[in-house]
Amino acid sequence: MSLLSRLPFPREGSFSSRLRSAAVAARVGLWLGICFGVAFVTGLISHYAQLDHQPVPFPTHPAWGYRVTQGLHVVAGTAAVPLLLVKLWVVYPKLFAAPPRRLGELVRTGLERGSIAVLVAASILELGIGLMNVAQWYAWDFSFRRTHDALAFVVIGALLVHIAVKLPLIRQVLGGDVEDAAADRPSAVRPGAIGRRGLLRGTWVAAVAAVVAGSATTGTIPGLDRLAVLSPRSRRAGIPVNRTAAQAGVVATATSASYRCEIGYGDTSVRLTRADLLALPQATHVLPIACVEGWSANGTWSGVPLRTLLDHVGAPRGRDLRISSLQQHTAESVTVLPADFADDERTLLALLLDGEPLALDHGYPARLIAPDRPGSLQTKWIARIEVLG
Ligand code: HEM
Repeated sequence: MSLLSRLPFPREGSFSSRLRSAAVAARVGLWLGICFGVAFVTGLISHYAQLDHQPVPFPTHPAWGYRVTQGLHVVAGTAAVPLLLVKLWVVYPKLFAAPPRRLGELVRTGLERGSIAVLVAASILELGIGLMNVAQWYAWDFSFRRTHDALAFVVIGALLVHIAVKLPLIRQVLGGDVEDAAADRPSAVRPGAIGRRGLLRGTWVAAVAAVVAGSATTGTIPGLDRLAVLSPRSRRAGIPVNRTAAQAGVVATATSASYRCEIGYGDTSVRLTRADLLALPQATHVLPIACVEGWSANGTWSGVPLRTLLDHVGAPRGRDLRISSLQQHTAESVTVLPADFADDERTLLALLLDGEPLALDHGYPARLIAPDRPGSLQTKWIARIEVLG
């Protein structure tokens, strides 16, 4: 009797459900792979959109581009949760497979299991912190963005290894009927209560339900947010608020009579009150706010076109801007606005939303609104705009 067989674990052969089959694992895996692929590509787009210095400028057209890619990112990640749970339930018996006796095979299997362990752990962590972030539950000290980005490469790398190793089996089982028993484990003989097709249908329904429930909670798919009962965010003028003025510690400075918005280019600098800003030529555009956490909403914003302000201080076209907020010591305190956004005629120093003065929580006295830009970079409570050399 081997040492392993004496440990108090079940054996692979003791799992008898026919549902736990390679035919089901590959079909659920296929959709899981598609979700991870979509989340990876859209995640890279989001990462690039947030770089301070972009070798190729992020486009300002279409205005809803980031809204769609980041919405897809969160939708794909949410759908992946039930898919991953079902997938792990289906392949769970493999965890208890007896190791091969021959050394060569043992090493090969050990390496494969190692990559699977990395894949499973990284996938669970990646989806877990992603969902917690969407729910605004920041229960960690590490940088979410850097960890989420790095884990994405680990997951995709391990996933490619997994697919390559299983490819012959994947092709075999996806090429046949889902009920085909040719690739089943010998012990998988007990018919499940719902059948393989029933399990797959239930899994697709669970994935769609997770997306609908997630969107209803956070507003990822516009319209579904009307169903929201447990939304983690408050709303002003129909648009969610991630950080309120009180949370950002700017209530006093943003409402102070001494507030000025400073625009600086070289030695030229002007300091404008909100009344001064309102006296300049105004424009109105319907533009979305699209949060990195997935929600998005259209607003009718009015204010001074940023280009008008830049002309005011004689700044040439083609210059990046450094935009500082009244809020201090956060990732959003200072951001860089690339030149193509600064020069786009739709980019506003917004003063009104839906014809009303901006709510304090939306960035009163003045905030940035640019097309196709991640919400966290649409700086609120603007204190200074500086033209970079
Ligand atoms: C994040 C994504 C995925 C995770 C976490 C995952 C996890 C796992 C695990 C833990 C196993 C058992 C490993 C073993 O045989 O020792 C497995 C097996 C398998 N996976 Fe995946 N997988 C993923 C994606 C995929 C994809 C994209 C496909 C194919 C389209 C796929 C197809 C399979 C197949 C065919 C098996 C063998 C099942 C069997 O022999 O009964 N997996 N997967």
